[in-house]
Amino acid sequence: MDKALLSKTAAAMVARGKGVLAADESSGTCEKRFKSVGVECTEETRRAYRGLLFGTAGVEQFISGVILFDETARQKANDGTPFPQYLARKGILPGIKVDKGLAALPFSAEEKVTEGLDGLQKRMKEYFDLGCRFAKWRAVITIGESIPTHSCLYANAHALARYAAICQEASIVPMIEPEVLLDGGHSAERSEEVHEATLRATYAAMAAYNVSLEHLILKTSMVVSGKENPRQANVDEVAERTLRVLRRTVPAAQPGIVFLSGGQSDEAATAHLNAMAAMKGLPWPLTFSYSRALQNPALRAWRGQAGNVPAAQKAFHHRAQMNALASQGKWRAGLEKQAA
Ligand code: 13P
Repeated sequence: MDKALLSKTAAAMVARGKGVLAADESSGTCEKRFKSVGVECTEETRRAYRGLLFGTAGVEQFISGVILFDETARQKANDGTPFPQYLARKGILPGIKVDKGLAALPFSAEEKVTEGLDGLQKRMKEYFDLGCRFAKWRAVITIGESIPTHSCLYANAHALARYAAICQEASIVPMIEPEVLLDGGHSAERSEEVHEATLRATYAAMAAYNVSLEHLILKTSMVVSGKENPRQANVDEVAERTLRVLRRTVPAAQPGIVFLSGGQSDEAATAHLNAMAAMKGLPWPLTFSYSRALQNPALRAWRGQAGNVPAAQKAFHHRAQMNALASQGKWRAGLEKQAA
């Protein structure tokens, strides 16, 4: 465990004015996203698309790291450079998604537990050798009438903590992602309660497995109203509820917190981050680790056509810049209109 390297990596991930691009969609998720814009999903189209994002000129001003899928970490840019080295050359940290997705939680039909611990120590060494310096593991918590259950929070927290310990031992910074889904008709208040229970369970497990808080990044969802709830919490309420939960549960020793977008609209994800980052006196830097809210306009502009690459890169550059501003509390809705 190289503590100096872990500290350096964690600080770089949340460096001021930068955030993380999540480009670690599994091939199945990629298939869905590509289908929505009429693109066939093959190993080559996935490579071409990721190459387009990573090759966007100047995006390294706003992007500190990229989370890769296993396949992408072994693919090459158009110039023949393996993607991890290609990113590192631009000053962007290569990261890797190491979980193996979701399995049904026994005795609780609607809940999931994340798999992927078997053989992880060995895989982690290989990822380090490929150049990856941080990792991601996503747990999913669903809100429903009598869920989440204690078993779901417990099982997922322990898996996250075991993963985090394995990462740190291999000198790879763990990004722990307990995502509370926004699907459903629940209120923002209920989402706040569930976030609090989830994060309490998560940090209790970190302590149980001696995970070093100084070398850990939390990737969290925001406290928003359920998608189907007619009363949607506004930007100020989302910011207030999310920060209240984070202050209650996340130790100040931690180097930073990043957010996922989770199906919020692009602009809502940016506005929410901006409102939170504008608060003074927080114990940790806040920034983004978005997939959809960074990539959606680029994907729509690309549609699989080589001729559309410049337009897609422009769209990606714009969202990266807007979110980089938001991570400093400097974004304004008017900036979006000026650019359109
Ligand atoms: P979204 O920003 O699209 O939620 O994706 C982030 C992520 O990495 C989910 O695991």
